[in-house]
Amino acid sequence: MHELVFELSGPYYELAWAEIRGVMEGNGHGCRTVSYQEGLLIVETDAPPEVLCGKLGLTHRILYHLGTTDRERLMAGDTGIKLPPGSAAVVTRRIGGREVDSMEINRGFGGEISRDNPIDLERPVHSVIVLVSESCVVGRLACVVDKKGMSRRLVKNRPYFSPVSLEPKYARALVNMARPAKGLTIHDPFCGTGGILLEAAEMGYKVSGGDTDPMMVEGCRRNLRTYNLQGNVWEGDVSQNIPEGIDRIVTDPPYGRSSSSRGEDIRTVYSRLLLTASERLGDKGYLAVIFPGKRYYRLGSEYLSPVEMHRTRVHSSLERYFCLFRKE
Ligand SMILES: C[S@@+](CC[C@H](N)C(=O)[O-])C[C@H]1O[C@@H](n2cnc3c(N)ncnc32)[C@H](O)[C@@H]1O
Repeated sequence: MHELVFELSGPYYELAWAEIRGVMEGNGHGCRTVSYQEGLLIVETDAPPEVLCGKLGLTHRILYHLGTTDRERLMAGDTGIKLPPGSAAVVTRRIGGREVDSMEINRGFGGEISRDNPIDLERPVHSVIVLVSESCVVGRLACVVDKKGMSRRLVKNRPYFSPVSLEPKYARALVNMARPAKGLTIHDPFCGTGGILLEAAEMGYKVSGGDTDPMMVEGCRRNLRTYNLQGNVWEGDVSQNIPEGIDRIVTDPPYGRSSSSRGEDIRTVYSRLLLTASERLGDKGYLAVIFPGKRYYRLGSEYLSPVEMHRTRVHSSLERYFCLFRKE
């Protein structure tokens, strides 16, 4: 077990936290929350940080927790924080736009560290990061989430794209909320251009999808091929396209605005999704879905057990609720 610090990507910290819980639970790792403050989560876990960094969408980086202290102690070089042997570099980062005198912290704390570890700013063995939030969390860098990899799959960079598609980091958050595990299949019954399937397949899960629009089906296949990813995608309505006994359903259905529901009332579309999910999900299966209102979370609770819901805001008149349900 080790204590890991997650530097979360804002502004939806609760969702970022839910994503981390989902990844750990799905992969059978223990996870005890040690503390949380704006943008920073500290968790005791046996999960290897590199594996988590390969999956998370809403985390910037993961550190091994060395200690939590305050600015005065850092500037005075009086934290008592110790590093394993090896050279070190100290970097200070502020969370949530806080005023910080980084130079003073680096000088004071760097001086303390240099008593036992030589300072090497070019190629340090230990990159030590001071994260200044409500208090100051100090950690040794474990890994950085690969934002470059995700940016290759941004909506605008896909060969077939539509503005209604989810960006990779939010698609990942939704997939990870569903507690995916190695060997399980993730199905998206409103797959569109494949934003969710691309991320799930990239994370190593088996994927399948369906959509009523043949252009979307073809575009989704093309996107998967472009990124060298495998997945079965077929044409069909949500009531027909979900395989029996499916492990996870992860989806972003139409909102009844630019994203088309072909004239069908969206409450009816969602009811059909929820009914089909309740019938076709395997035992202890999960449905992770984005709804444009809290009332649909209540609707979902009539079909499946509600687990959690997290609000995000697209613009003044569109909110998205990341909702998770379980089949008991
Ligand atoms: C919000 S978009 C999905 C976006 C998708 N996540 C992406 O990355 O492109 C909703 C999709 O649902 C499809 N759709 C609408 N009604 C449907 C239905 N009854 N059954 C299956 N798909 C449907 C639309 O063709 C559209 O592609």
